[in-house]
Amino acid sequence: MKPEMAKNINHKRQMFTSVDGPNLKIPLLEPQFSGNESVYLQQCISSGYVSSIGPFVSRFETKLSNIMCSAGAVAVSSGTAALHVMLLAAGVKPNDLVIIPTYTFIGTANSIRQCFSVPWLVDILADDLTLDHDLLKKTLESETNLENGICIHSDSGRTVSAIMPVHTLGATPRMDLLADIAEEFHLSLIVDGAAALGTKFNDKPLSKTGASMTSLSFNGNKVITTGGGGAVISDNLDLLEFVRKISGTAKIEGSYNHDCVAFNYSMSNLHAAVGCAQLEVLPEFLKTKERIKRNYETGLKDVVSLTPVKHNTYCKSSHWISAFTLSTLDLANSLRSHLNNAFIEARLFWKPLHLQKPHQNAIKTKTDVSDDIWQRLMPLPSSTNLTEEKQDYIINVILDWAETSH
Ligand SMILES: Cc1ncc(COP(=O)(O)O)c(C=O)c1O
Repeated sequence: MKPEMAKNINHKRQMFTSVDGPNLKIPLLEPQFSGNESVYLQQCISSGYVSSIGPFVSRFETKLSNIMCSAGAVAVSSGTAALHVMLLAAGVKPNDLVIIPTYTFIGTANSIRQCFSVPWLVDILADDLTLDHDLLKKTLESETNLENGICIHSDSGRTVSAIMPVHTLGATPRMDLLADIAEEFHLSLIVDGAAALGTKFNDKPLSKTGASMTSLSFNGNKVITTGGGGAVISDNLDLLEFVRKISGTAKIEGSYNHDCVAFNYSMSNLHAAVGCAQLEVLPEFLKTKERIKRNYETGLKDVVSLTPVKHNTYCKSSHWISAFTLSTLDLANSLRSHLNNAFIEARLFWKPLHLQKPHQNAIKTKTDVSDDIWQRLMPLPSSTNLTEEKQDYIINVILDWAETSH
């Protein structure tokens, strides 16, 4: 490392210590609370409405469905809970197969297992890390049969009931092509859109891209946060009614009568209060995420070993996380340690599901791209409170690394 860069890093270390307290590293993602969060939380506490009943829950759902241009939205306790009830609403039954990309957060597959169903893991595209639609089509053509209108996996004899692509890092796969495949093979199309609040496909909001339902997550690291939470959005009010019912213990309004075994997944008024405040600043958050992506791409364009993760031409991403791939694993490891030494959080991101113990016995179709890419992927700090000054520092640290390592 050049002496002036080392001096600069030490200077930054002191600066971040004084500004951010004991957290020395610039984190990959952190929440930002600069709006009405505490005002709304105080209103919950003063009114006593802290649990699943309270005005903020319906206010949050209404605002969310307006933003997503969907007929409705049901707020729940996490993104994983949203996936679970969405799968059940899509009619996924025990032992069915549900197709998902093998490169995703583990919650995508866990929710399938929670339905006593089996994930069918399919590889991703190297450019944008989303489900490989061509591979999926060829696989369905060669490995399934339609029997009485039902898609059957030839080897296992199991029913294939749904395709559940993921909007990876906020970017959509080719939803138009996936919708065609779902129709051809008589499958439900539902989406894990955990990080895709604000994302569009073909200029359309996510409720209008061919999927019957989309889930969102409001975990602390997502585009907005409720502390912990999720939602299902849809244009189909019957599906949403079912989602609401099984998320809320299947209670018949105003009574202790419940007409099926269900879950206690409703979002609390406290969480929804935070969510209402966060949605008020969503447009600014999205602009900042776009600026972060643009600045990284401009600032690092001459580093030959770094390739930005792209999105397809029809997608307008939320840019949840800006990420690059390194040309070799050695360079990726070297950059990770260089960034960490400079107080910038850099770690391995998702490990593909077929390499994870709980999902090793899922059905798999080709995993080469995921195997090749996951350790070369470099997500960079992308919080909405990442100032231009901090981002310049990160870019300079990477440029310094490139000069010495190439
Ligand atoms: C792609 C994806 N799916 C599902 C989830 C699960 O969401 P949650 O953590 O809110 O349960 C996450 C986020 O953590 C995610 O990134």
